[in-house]
Amino acid sequence: MCGIVGYLGEKEATPILIEGLERLEYRGYDSAGIAVSVEDEIDVVKKAGKLKVLKEAISENPPAGKVGIGHTRWATHGSPSDLNSHPHSDCTGDFVIVHNGIIENFQQLKDELVDKGHSFRSETDTEVIAHLIEENYQGKLREAVLKVARMLEGSYALAILSKREPGKIIAIRRDSPLIVGIGEDENYIASDIPAFLQYTNQFYILDDEELAEVTRDNISLYDAAGNRIEKDVFVVNWDAEMAEKGGYEHFMLKEIHEEPDAIRRVLSNRVTPGNVDLSEINLSSEEIRNYDKIHIVACGTASYAGIMGKYVIEELVRMPVEVDIASEFRYRQPLIDENSLVIVVSQSGETADTLASLRLAQKKGAKVLAFTNVTGSSIAREADEVLYLQAGPEIAVASTKAYINMVVAFYILALYLAKVRSTVTEDRLYELIEEVLRLPKLATETIEKSLELVKERARVYKLQDNAFFIGRNIDFALSLEGALKLKEISYIHAEAYPAGELKHGPLALIEDGVPVVAIATRLSLYDKMLSNIKEVKARGADVLAITFEGETEVEKSVDHVIYIPRINELFSGALAIIPMHLLAYYTSLERGYDVDQPRNLAKSVTVE
Ligand code: M6R
Repeated sequence: MCGIVGYLGEKEATPILIEGLERLEYRGYDSAGIAVSVEDEIDVVKKAGKLKVLKEAISENPPAGKVGIGHTRWATHGSPSDLNSHPHSDCTGDFVIVHNGIIENFQQLKDELVDKGHSFRSETDTEVIAHLIEENYQGKLREAVLKVARMLEGSYALAILSKREPGKIIAIRRDSPLIVGIGEDENYIASDIPAFLQYTNQFYILDDEELAEVTRDNISLYDAAGNRIEKDVFVVNWDAEMAEKGGYEHFMLKEIHEEPDAIRRVLSNRVTPGNVDLSEINLSSEEIRNYDKIHIVACGTASYAGIMGKYVIEELVRMPVEVDIASEFRYRQPLIDENSLVIVVSQSGETADTLASLRLAQKKGAKVLAFTNVTGSSIAREADEVLYLQAGPEIAVASTKAYINMVVAFYILALYLAKVRSTVTEDRLYELIEEVLRLPKLATETIEKSLELVKERARVYKLQDNAFFIGRNIDFALSLEGALKLKEISYIHAEAYPAGELKHGPLALIEDGVPVVAIATRLSLYDKMLSNIKEVKARGADVLAITFEGETEVEKSVDHVIYIPRINELFSGALAIIPMHLLAYYTSLERGYDVDQPRNLAKSVTVE
């Protein structure tokens, strides 16, 4: 959500900034712009729309200069117009800034600045920052920025250029991510690591309220009080290619095909034959035995992984688990204390509501364990303990491999808690571990076996306006994820229901040809699912069932069946979701939509 890049070096800045912005496209945006400085001039070009519009605008006369900043904007205050696009500047044009976040007190600050004679060009909250710097500049940009930062309420990551101090970029952040890339005779600034991974794998990750003063051959770091600080260099092991499409048409398809490997990585060193080990997280056996409740807090797909976690933990560990959407949790005065374990789940590690929930839980005395995919993210840094998802970079807005790894992380945690609390016998634990270890191989088989039928179904689904996903127990958790994936990238209205709930309302919507995806992997509830399938079939639904190989009884009642390899039914979710990820992908493709960057959505939701 909004992407920031900055470059200072020996090369022309414009192509490097554009390339960096392209690598941040996954964050979602609706306008883009750059500012490049030569000596004491700053050339700003900004356009509503995708990066190709900006590229066209600069194609004949690209801004020349070796220092610059760039931005992709996801509109919050003011429409996605050329004027509202970043960079923004003050009255004189001396201070040029890009911003990610929301300034909550911008209206009050703007009114005060207008009273002092400042004139504004945009409707954005961001522009006040440029005018405040103009107002407070007394010969040192760094000091002015620190002073202004103290006046701002809300969140920001900022990169600032000034004609008064050419050859320099000031970067500062609070509650929005910002990193500084370290090169040779050149340095970089970005919202996220993939932006410049092809140039460097060494970064400083700024913490809240920290400021970086960057020139092409120096990086000085400061705290909020203006004191020099030292930080460790963060070395990234991904190579640039890992963040590329690797030959697939879209990141989402590549990421689905990476699911088996992703599962292998999350299991690695944690689950081995006969053992499950989570000593990497600092939870003592005593703590684990003393917890009386688990709270799982997350947004979107991550919350659906959390619902799966609830079913699995409650069944194996016999402990109550509550699952909350983070934007609800943070405002509902939750009943948690030091006897609660709070698990926050976030692929990006930057989701604003999840981060706020983490802080709330800590304030109430609970220990917070984070499941996240991004090392060095805000959630990773603030949580008491972190279990990294190890899915590798996920670029497509629709989360796929990270979702699966969240689910598998819950399997691992459930097995570990069950071991420590002795809620399963040693033999059963051994068997369950053996089953979990089969997942990577079975995930590959699932992709291979479901692909053709999924592609065929997508050609039918593309013509539909509505779809339903039904299931019971863990299959209901899966149906939530299946429906979200279809709706977010194919724009088909998709609803998930516990299958037993159909006759309490949604059955009224079933008529001839309405697609229903019926997930039936919970074998203890298989007969009940068959009855629910018959209810929708009798009303004309076009039913696609997903069940285990060998469960052929369902064929009598449905139109199509995707069979997944047999595994202990507690762990079917990590396989059964794969055809639903593929179905969403191919339906979106059939409809001709932008699969990786669906309309109105952003990969990393860093505002409330
Ligand atoms: O980065 P997070 O896991 O915290 O993101 C949470 C949601 O925004 C995210 O899962 C969203 O629902 C995805 N677009 C789903 O595919």
